[in-house]
Amino acid sequence: MIQTYSRVVSTDKVGSNILVLSIHSPEIARAVKPGQFINIKVGEWDQPLLRRPFSVYHTEGEILHIIFSVIGFGTTALSQKREGDMLDLIGPLGCPYTIDNDYGTAILVAGGVGVAPLPMLTLALKKLGRSIHTFLGARTRDQIVTKYLENLHLATDDGSSGFHGTVVNALRQHFCDAEYLRPKIFACGPNAMLRSLSNLAAEFDVPCEVSLESAMACGIGICQGCPIEVVGDGRKYALVCKEGTVFDTRTIRIS
Ligand SMILES: Cc1cc2nc3c(=O)[nH]c(=O)nc-3n(C[C@H](O)[C@H](O)[C@H](O)COP(=O)(O)OP(=O)(O)OC[C@H]3O[C@@H](n4cnc5c(N)ncnc54)[C@H](O)[C@@H]3O)c2cc1C
Ligand code: FES
Repeated sequence: MIQTYSRVVSTDKVGSNILVLSIHSPEIARAVKPGQFINIKVGEWDQPLLRRPFSVYHTEGEILHIIFSVIGFGTTALSQKREGDMLDLIGPLGCPYTIDNDYGTAILVAGGVGVAPLPMLTLALKKLGRSIHTFLGARTRDQIVTKYLENLHLATDDGSSGFHGTVVNALRQHFCDAEYLRPKIFACGPNAMLRSLSNLAAEFDVPCEVSLESAMACGIGICQGCPIEVVGDGRKYALVCKEGTVFDTRTIRIS
C-alpha cells in the first residue's frame, strides 16, 4: 500500500455526467492489478473527512486513470480538479480479480460506471489469449463508455442502444442462445445488479467473481465498516475493502 501526493494530468468528460481523471502516480500505476482500487482525499482540508474509493480504470506508463459519475460532495470536488492540482492517494487497495487458467471464455459484465475495472482486466485477459465477451448496461446510451473493451453487447433500460432491458437479462438471453467454452463471469456494478447476476450464474452453474461497492470509511480493514455476509464458512462476515472487493459469488450473500 502506497501513499502519494500525485499531480492531476487531465479531466475529460466521456459521457453524460461521467468523467475520466488522469493522475501522474508512477508507484501506484506500476503496482496496481485489475479490480484494485485507490482511496482519494478529494478535499484540500478536512471536508469531506473520509476518502473516496475508486477502481483504477486504466494505466498508461506512469499515469493512472479513474472514471466516475458525479454523485455528491466528493465526486463534485473531483470533477473540479484541473491539470497541476495535487491529490493525496492511497493504493492499490483490495484484492484483484483471479486471472487463472480455469476457464476458456471470460464474460465481463458491468452496470454504469461499474465498467471501471474492465479495461485493465481486458488487457490482462488478452495477454493470456482468452476469448472475451463484454456486456455493458446503463440507463441510457450516453452513460455507456466502451473504450478499451472487446466484443461488446450493450443493454439500456430505455432501449436507446442494444438490448432493451437490464444487462443481466441480456446475458441470460446469450446463455440460452449461445454456447460459451467453459465461461467465467467477471463483474462490477451496483449491488442489485450483482445480486441478480449471482443468481443467474448459480442457475447456469457458471463461476462468477464480482467487485462490490460497499460504503467505506477507512478502506484498509481498520474500521470494520464494510461487512459482507459470508456463506459456507465458519464466520459470518468478511470485510469488503480488505478481503474483497472481489469475491466469488458462491462465497457471499449480496444484500
Ligand atoms: C471499492 C469501490 C470502488 C469504487 N469505484 C468507483 C468508480 O470507479 N467510479 C465511480 O464513479 N464510483 C466508484 N465508487 C463509488 C464512489 O466511491 C462513490 O461514488 C463516491 O464515494 C460518492 O462520493 P460523493 O462524495 O460524490 O457522494 P456523497 O456526497 O458521499 O453521497 C451523495 C449521495 O450519493 C449516495 N451515494 C454514494 N455513493 C453512491 C454510489 N456508489 N451509488 C449510488 N449512490 C451513492 C449517498 O448515499 C448520498 O445519498 C466505488 C466505491 C467503492 C467502494
Ligand atoms: S472500510 Fe474500514 S474496514 Fe473496510
